[in-house]
Amino acid sequence: MSHIHERAPASAAADWTIPQDWSAYTPQDHAMWDTLFARQAAMLPDRVVPEFMDGLDILRMTKPGIPDFSELSDRLMRRTGWQVVAVPGLVPDRVFFEHLANRRFVTGRFIRTPEQLDYLEEPDVFHDVFGHVPLLAHPVFADYMQAYGEGGLRAERMGAIDRLARLYWYTVEFGLIRQGDDLRLYGAGIVSSHGESIFALDDPSPNRLGFDLKRLMRTKYRIDDYQQSYFVIDSFEDLLRQTVETDFAPLYHALEGAPDLEVDTILPEDRIYTLGTQAYARGRFTKEDRLP
Ligand SMILES: [Fe+2]
Repeated sequence: MSHIHERAPASAAADWTIPQDWSAYTPQDHAMWDTLFARQAAMLPDRVVPEFMDGLDILRMTKPGIPDFSELSDRLMRRTGWQVVAVPGLVPDRVFFEHLANRRFVTGRFIRTPEQLDYLEEPDVFHDVFGHVPLLAHPVFADYMQAYGEGGLRAERMGAIDRLARLYWYTVEFGLIRQGDDLRLYGAGIVSSHGESIFALDDPSPNRLGFDLKRLMRTKYRIDDYQQSYFVIDSFEDLLRQTVETDFAPLYHALEGAPDLEVDTILPEDRIYTLGTQAYARGRFTKEDRLP
């Protein structure tokens, strides 16, 4: 879900891409995809933005088995000009941003083992493709992803990648959206996780706060467990507009002296959808504290 670590590829191109090697998947690999797909497809329709379900249909991702990236890219290209390319694992920030800025989404090609059904340290093809790709068929979200990549390249020059990475985390990975009176899921880290798809919407523990770009770029995040705060956007159009129209340079400068906010901080100016009990997180920390 993150792209911050680097690992030297043994045999990758300069842009780190490798062939998907679709024919190398075993029947067990495809069966794993189908298991994960069936579980999420059964519970998501009432929870995820309809645009996500539309994306599954448009891209024919309902077809059994791990998708062939070249077929997926053909459909995506016709729709929004995006492609899906395989990489050997997490790639350097610059490579990641460069691909996004050119409307290429990089994805892992391996699939988790049955033991990893609910927890993964590195994103696999189910997270990357099921989680991220359907919304790339949505024209506005597709433009947002490109704008984020372009912003990433600028942030790198300004030494502000850590700030900008929080925007990705709290939108692309763990974003919620308001639709009418409902909150809905759209973040890939949520929709590719059975547990978090329930937790993020239904559990009284986490905060659900209105999206505020500057505030969010000050907010730490959890990489090891469910989020303690989620941020709710008003629409994909608004998210794209803010990302494109905001001049990030002065924002980064203004944030230079500002202390980071903890994952559960509430500010007086926050727009609160849910004031979380944080009961889940407290339970987890207590257990951890008891470890020798
Ligand atoms: Fe991800």
